[in-house]
Amino acid sequence: MKILITSALPYANGPLHFGHIAGAYLPGDCYARFERLQGNEVLYLCGSDEYGVAITLSAELAGRSPQEHVDIFHAINKALFDKLQFSFDHYSRTTWEGHAAPVQEFFFALQKKGLIEERTENHLYSMKEKRFLADRYVVGTCPKCSFDQARGDECQKCAASYEATDLKNPRSKLSGDALVLKPSTHLYLRFDHFRQQLFDWIRSKDWKENVVHFAMRYIDELKPRAITRDSSWGVPVPGYPDKVFYVWFDAPIGYISAAQEWAQKIGDSRAWERFWLEPETKLIHFIGKDNIPFHTVFFPAMLMGQDRPYKLPDEVPANEFYMLEGRQFSKSDNWTIDLEDFFQHYSADQIRYAIASNAPETADSDFSWKDFQMRCNAELLGKFGNFVHRVLVFAKQHCQSCVPLAQTLDEEDRFFSTQMSALVKTAASHYSKFSLRKACQTLMELAHLGNAYFDHKKPWVLAKDPAKVPILQACIALCLECIKNLALVASPIIPTSAQIVWNLLGNHSELSQGLWNTIAATPLPTGQRLGESTPLFRKVEDVEIEQQIAKLGLKKNPQEIQMTVPPTYEPFKESIAYDAFDKVDLRVALVLEVEKVPKSKKLLKLTLDLGSEKRTVVSGIALHYQPDQLIGRKVVFLANLAPATIMGIESQGMVLAAGIGDSLELPFIDKLAPGASIC
Ligand code: MF3
Ligand code: ZN
Repeated sequence: MKILITSALPYANGPLHFGHIAGAYLPGDCYARFERLQGNEVLYLCGSDEYGVAITLSAELAGRSPQEHVDIFHAINKALFDKLQFSFDHYSRTTWEGHAAPVQEFFFALQKKGLIEERTENHLYSMKEKRFLADRYVVGTCPKCSFDQARGDECQKCAASYEATDLKNPRSKLSGDALVLKPSTHLYLRFDHFRQQLFDWIRSKDWKENVVHFAMRYIDELKPRAITRDSSWGVPVPGYPDKVFYVWFDAPIGYISAAQEWAQKIGDSRAWERFWLEPETKLIHFIGKDNIPFHTVFFPAMLMGQDRPYKLPDEVPANEFYMLEGRQFSKSDNWTIDLEDFFQHYSADQIRYAIASNAPETADSDFSWKDFQMRCNAELLGKFGNFVHRVLVFAKQHCQSCVPLAQTLDEEDRFFSTQMSALVKTAASHYSKFSLRKACQTLMELAHLGNAYFDHKKPWVLAKDPAKVPILQACIALCLECIKNLALVASPIIPTSAQIVWNLLGNHSELSQGLWNTIAATPLPTGQRLGESTPLFRKVEDVEIEQQIAKLGLKKNPQEIQMTVPPTYEPFKESIAYDAFDKVDLRVALVLEVEKVPKSKKLLKLTLDLGSEKRTVVSGIALHYQPDQLIGRKVVFLANLAPATIMGIESQGMVLAAGIGDSLELPFIDKLAPGASIC
């Protein structure tokens, strides 16, 4: 089967946060990965949404041209998606040169059918700024929920979508000026013509309750809506030199132009038609709930109103909002997570799993640091990682690190095996119904099943009796099967770790290229050589979590403060003769081991290699560096400082660091060997 999957095209208007990731992106990626494993032909598309007055507004505020602005955020968001290992077949952008053509084609087709009308109506005008203002340039009171800071086109509080003229007390976002109504001519799309068709279509769908509900509310009150704006930033409207299309008219067509760009990229310019124009293709839009009206009402109406046989969406798995510690993510309040910092400490798999296991599928949900720690430590490491580790270590000791022969199975073995297969099937069914939460639960049940079986069979006791070796071998063979199934079931969510586990089992292929049913049904070959167990997940310590929580809501992080508030500089010290400096013995030192000093938040104990000898030092850098950021790096070391005892540990020298205000950074030496002198 062919499956066309899209994740909402994010505005290239600011960095994304985990709230966005949980809504439209991670669920889309896991689903795409799952369907590829099912052997389906998947085209997974996304890209930047780069037009619209929200973007000209931010660009204006930032003192950049709109193009410069979107170039910056397109690159930033794309890099974040790469870090998170999203497996888009193509990541496009609506400013690419091929995007305007299909948008204008839609326009002509709708126009030909008499669905577009020119109307002169009242629009919001700022006397002070001497211009018409639309959408994001306007704030006012939401006509649905009365929120008084609602944006001009959609309410960020209740997700209602309306015309700016529907707002009460409309004001200019830039000048605060109260706006007046003045007539202006625009093109309107007769959405009202589609009421019945949309109603019947949605009623025929078995979509999530909230999606159907939301969509139906819009259908009841469909009226003609302006699809043009007075701006020079957007897709030009043929015949109207000063107008561009409204961003919500052009952006969804971005799903089509992205497919066209993908087709060009693979050198088969009509390949996109196999997805977009064939009735058998399944089309699935992953979105956050604020995008429901556009994907279930407005864009489908545009598709229904033109002539080409474009697919209508088959599924619109919209997610609710994902918040941070009970509040909406907010950059201005620093109620957010610095992603740069996050990825220095944690892996993509850790965050992918934490979000997936707690995804906002049926209600709003929350990222909390404590939950993140629990998911990483108790689940990924404690259940999954631990099972893999204990079985591989045992197989090394008792099965020569090879897959043993499962000669005879007793009742318990057979029961374990049946339960295992049942869980693999259950996981597939959860994935196919877009439930990542339940897929994660099933994954943990599978790990738990494996652990419980291993504990109950006690292979370490069997190992003491040579007559019981065949029972032991069957047990380990089945545990390795369980690990294989864990890798398979986990791979849509934590692809990197799943691949590592797959390789540890002695497989050399790419797990993501395999087929779910074949992998589940094919036992590992007897005698296949197993790899050496390595830790799959790092333990997340309490202090890290405390530090992260402490950072939330702080008005600005220290780096930013440094940029705005001039730092207090240390006065220069009195001058010294060269002889005095020459007594200082600075060396390059390689960090071999790092441990936290018990009962101290700030101190780390480091073991250093100076080439000719090893040293232990205690260093007050624990708030700035995690052990895994130091091990294997070479630091600048003061080698002839008299030893001192700190927290009961003899510190034999000092690691040098640069510091200003609250910030600290270690200088690292990359190329020279340990022991090299610095002078
Ligand atoms: N840029 C929109 C948002 O972030 C989503 C656009 S989805 C598309 O809310 F369908 F228009 F592409
Ligand atoms: Zn509202």
